[in-house]
Amino acid sequence: MIELNTSLCTGCGLCVADCIQKNLFLQNGHAQARGDCFLCGHCAAICPQNAIRIPEYADDPTIEYTPETFDLPAENLLNTIKFRRSVRSYTSQAIESDKLMMLAEAGRHAATAKNTQHNRFVFVQKDLDLFKSIFWKAVEEAISTENDPRILRLLKHFYEGRNDLPKDEYLFRNAPAVLFIGTDNALDAGLAAQCVELIAVSLGLGAMYNGYLCRLAASLPAVREWLGMQDQPPAAVMLLGYPAVRYARTAPRRTDDVEFR
Ligand SMILES: Cc1cc2nc3c(=O)[nH]c(=O)nc-3n(C[C@H](O)[C@H](O)[C@H](O)COP(=O)(O)O)c2cc1C
Repeated sequence: MIELNTSLCTGCGLCVADCIQKNLFLQNGHAQARGDCFLCGHCAAICPQNAIRIPEYADDPTIEYTPETFDLPAENLLNTIKFRRSVRSYTSQAIESDKLMMLAEAGRHAATAKNTQHNRFVFVQKDLDLFKSIFWKAVEEAISTENDPRILRLLKHFYEGRNDLPKDEYLFRNAPAVLFIGTDNALDAGLAAQCVELIAVSLGLGAMYNGYLCRLAASLPAVREWLGMQDQPPAAVMLLGYPAVRYARTAPRRTDDVEFR
């Protein structure tokens, strides 16, 4: 539900024109809502008078636009994207809580299809040892009781002795934190993960998407229960921490698969 403050509203109509669901109209010189909508917040964001609130989002303060609020040269952002690397080696330094909060904010503000905002973000840092013990117990149980082929396939490098890293390190890479994003729309999770990763890079952190850990976590009911993701499987999993590796330059990429018509 949106709340319109008619004493502030000047009836300029900007919110009516920008409402994708055609839920707003002008009457007696004020904007009015027809009913419920999917609460994308465009009306609250566009209103010059700040006359529109969404009470259920009241804990997320809005920021007033000034040219300085995102004074970020495109080249710097592009370099941030190019210098992003999948970091597979981390220092033991924990991520500060204010930085974790920023990562969460970045994820929450990503686009979601139909504005469902169904992504669930679980940052595991303080309880990472506990998580790992639950995780490995669930893996061992799945293998010993069901000889679960999906789990075996995902961990075959260890069970076939083809990897010299301890299996814990192979999956977790000694990262001090892991982010799990549960969702009912994998693209939503991917977009949120990318926003988190870009802020991580700009904070001097490293990140790595971990497809194996994601699929294992999604396949293990005990792990999903611990994460509170029984109904929505983890669809993006990201290791996070301070990099113990430094890259001297960007990595080269293919250039042949882009077309401008
Ligand atoms: C969805 C996804 C899953 C990935 N899963 C893993 C993984 O399980 N283990 C791993 O070492 N790297 C994983 N990666 C990282 C890729 O290998 C990496 O992005 C690619 O090699 C390019 O390197 P860069 O990210 O440093 O540019 C994953 C990347 C993505 C996008």
